[in-house]
Amino acid sequence: MSYFPRQQAHLYAEALPLADIARQFGTPTYVYSRAALTDAYNQYATALGDHDGLVCFAVKANSNLGVLGLLADLGAGFDIVSEGELERVLLAGGKPERIVFSGVGKTATAIRKALEVGVHCFNVESEAELELLADIAKQLDTKAPISLRVNPDVDAQTHPYISTGLKENKFGIDIQRAPQVYKRAAALGSLNIVGVDCHIGSQLTQLTPFIDALDRLLALIDTLKADGIVLKHIDIGGGLGVTYRDETPPPIGSLIAQVKEKLQGRNLALVMEPGRSICANAGVLLAEVLFLKPTEHKNFAIIDAAMNDNIRPALYQAWQDVQPVELKTTEAKTWDLVGPVCETGDFLAKDRTLALAAGDLIAVMSTGAYGFTMSSNYNSRTRAAEVIVDGNRAYLVRERETLADLTRGESLLP
Ligand code: LLP
Repeated sequence: MSYFPRQQAHLYAEALPLADIARQFGTPTYVYSRAALTDAYNQYATALGDHDGLVCFAVKANSNLGVLGLLADLGAGFDIVSEGELERVLLAGGKPERIVFSGVGKTATAIRKALEVGVHCFNVESEAELELLADIAKQLDTKAPISLRVNPDVDAQTHPYISTGLKENKFGIDIQRAPQVYKRAAALGSLNIVGVDCHIGSQLTQLTPFIDALDRLLALIDTLKADGIVLKHIDIGGGLGVTYRDETPPPIGSLIAQVKEKLQGRNLALVMEPGRSICANAGVLLAEVLFLKPTEHKNFAIIDAAMNDNIRPALYQAWQDVQPVELKTTEAKTWDLVGPVCETGDFLAKDRTLALAAGDLIAVMSTGAYGFTMSSNYNSRTRAAEVIVDGNRAYLVRERETLADLTRGESLLP
């Protein structure tokens, strides 16, 4: 089911015409569907069922407070990687005991804060981090709950920039070395070993890499048990892909069902860190065509959204569908949809057959994940507004930035 249906010529977000949203809030604007977010989260929660565990939304995929708040209300946990993400989750009403803290470069300040609020677990990514965490916990006279994020050396078969579980990647602790690191953790009095974690990459469209990684983690758990280290949970990370074009990732339910089957007979809670699969197809980027610029070689449609709003095409050669907000019967041509930024890499889509005119609205589909969160102010462009649609109502959950926002905190030399 599409949460962005077309009725006659008009493209909708749930029951609200996208053209109305553009009129009310301007462009470029990210538009998210509450029902789509709810449905995707519920697929995880339902698949987990009564198996002990947590669905921790990866905040980096979409960190808007409105989005985090609605997920928190549904009972979601959160996977964070910075003090900023911790702050957002707490502001959105997320429960600290449902937060897992990942990331290779946790600062002492962030660690201290996370310990003070009482997060569920630190996913420790290096031996140096383990020592720092143990020190800070000792200073605070507490015990830090930890998992080691291990690097299982599995090929996620995805874009190299978003593959994270190979030996040559910076993430996690080599699985071969993990038993020694667990022993060190056990010897440090201020740590409480609770689990093991991995995350092998993003936009995975096959089941096999997940299952291979899981098998390696389960073997590690058995080795640890023989050493007297018993874990309470296994965290399989995020990474499940979505359909942008014609990809056919396994459904959420079947991935989780297979994982649960592997966990049968083991007393292990299941933690997951999905980002993209919860929000990518719950959002679109609404933009307006500024000018048409047909040339001898290419037809360019210059739109008011750019690589600073959505960097995925430039960074990963990502393909995202483009839909006209109003379908027209005029002649379609092949267009490159480019932004106003001064870079050849500033395109949101290439070679799309569309009937376009200046002033038309378009929607870049499947942009709810890693869209706004990766946006910047490059070329001194104000960042887009964000809106959540619920039925036929639209809520502004982030105002468009103003010119004053652009220079906040800056000053001239005295
Ligand atoms: N857990 C950890 C430790 C992660 O590093 C990530 C994503 C996730 C969970 C969530 O993964 P997901 O379910 O969203 O695949 N900017 C890139 C994606 C980078 C993913 C980084 N880590 C993109 O736009 O494709």
